[in-house]
Amino acid sequence: MARITLKNLKKAWLAESPAVDGINLELKEGELASILGPSGCGKSTTLLMLAGIYAPTSGEILFDGEIVNDVEARDRNVGIVFQSYALYPNMSVLNNILFPLRFKKLPKNVAEKEARNIAELVMIEDLLERRPSQLSGGQQQRVALARALVKKPNLLLLDEPLSNLDATLRLNMRSEIKRIQKELEVTTILVTHDQIEATTMADRIICMNKGKIIQLGSPEELYKKPVSKFVASFIGSPPMNLFEGQNDDGVIRAGALNFGMKGTTDKKNLICGLRPENINIAEQGIEGTIYTIEPLGREILYGLKTETGIIWFLESTSNAEYDIGNLVRINFDYQNTLVFDRDTEERLDSVHFYVE
Ligand SMILES: Nc1ncnc2c1ncn2[C@@H]1O[C@H](COP(=O)(O)OP(=O)(O)OP(=O)(O)O)[C@@H](O)[C@H]1O
Ligand SMILES: [Mg+2]
Repeated sequence: MARITLKNLKKAWLAESPAVDGINLELKEGELASILGPSGCGKSTTLLMLAGIYAPTSGEILFDGEIVNDVEARDRNVGIVFQSYALYPNMSVLNNILFPLRFKKLPKNVAEKEARNIAELVMIEDLLERRPSQLSGGQQQRVALARALVKKPNLLLLDEPLSNLDATLRLNMRSEIKRIQKELEVTTILVTHDQIEATTMADRIICMNKGKIIQLGSPEELYKKPVSKFVASFIGSPPMNLFEGQNDDGVIRAGALNFGMKGTTDKKNLICGLRPENINIAEQGIEGTIYTIEPLGREILYGLKTETGIIWFLESTSNAEYDIGNLVRINFDYQNTLVFDRDTEERLDSVHFYVE
C-alpha cells in the first residue's frame, strides 16, 4: 500500500481542452477513494496515468513521496481492473491469476500458494481449474480482482468494474470489494459514475468535471455541503429539487411562492436546493396537488405541483397514502436547504430558506 500524491497533473491531447486539467490530491495509505463524474470528465485518463500507461503532459505523480513519472508501468506495482476485465480465455483461472507474477521469478510453488490465498480471499478457490468462459459474470469479476491483487499492489485501480453486472451482483460485489480492500489495506481508487456506488463504498469521493476536481471530501460532506450546484445535483438519489429564486431584500421569490431567507447575501439571482428526503407532509407549508406517484419499494416518490413548479418528495412507506389530484401541504427544516448563486452556481454558505 502507498500514499499517493498528484501535483498539478495534466493530460492534454488537444491543447485547448485538456482531458485532465491540473489536478492536485493526496490519498492516505489504505484509503478507498472514489472518482465520480460524468462521461468524458477525465476519470479513466487519471487512472491510466497513475498506472503508467499514459504519460502526463505535465505535473507529478508520487508514490510514498517519490516521483514515479518515469517509472515503467510494470515497475509501479499497480493492480488494475477495468470494466471489461479481459481474462485470458485459453488459460485456467489459476493461470490467469498467476499471470502478473511471471516477471517476479518466484518458485512455482510459492507463486501458486499466493494465487490460492488470493483466490480464497475473493472466494473462487473451487474454480481454479476452470476456463473464464465457464464462469458467471460475478465469478469472472472476482478472477479479475484476484489477478489485480496477487502482486500485493501498492495501489489498486478499479475502473467501473461493476458496470457489467446485474443489480444484485453489483450490490454483493460492492460489499465484497470493500471487505477485501479493508482486509488488505490496499490504497484504492474506484472510478464510477454511479453515485450510490461511490457513496456506499468510498472513504472519500473525488468529484470531477471537465478535467478538474470540483470537490474532494467524505460522502457526507459532499451530500451536506456540496460546493456547487453541480456536486449537489450529482450526489443524492432521487436528485435534489432545484428551482430559481430572486432575492428581494431577504425574501426569496420563487415563481408565485415566497420563502423567508436565513443568513444574508447580496446576490440577486439564486437557485434553491431541497432534497426529496428532507421534505415532509405538514399542516402548514407549501400547498400543491399530487401530480405523480412513483413507488420505490420502501419509499414513495411523489411529484407535487406547486406554484413554483413540480417539487419531488419522498415518504418512507410502501403504500401510497395519497392519490393523484389530492391537495396536500409540505414543509421542511431550513437547515436542510441549500442556496446557490445562479451566476457562478457556487453554494452560498450559511444561506438557507424556509416557508414563511
Ligand atoms: N487516447 C485519446 N486520445 C484523444 N483523446 C482522448 C483519448 N482518451 C480519452 N480522450 C479524451 O479525453 C477526455 C477524458 O476521457 P476519459 O476516458 O478520461 O473520460 P472518463 O471520465 O473516463 O469517461 P467515461 O465515464 O465515459 O469512461 C474525453 O474528452 C476523451 O474524448
Ligand atoms: Mg472511463
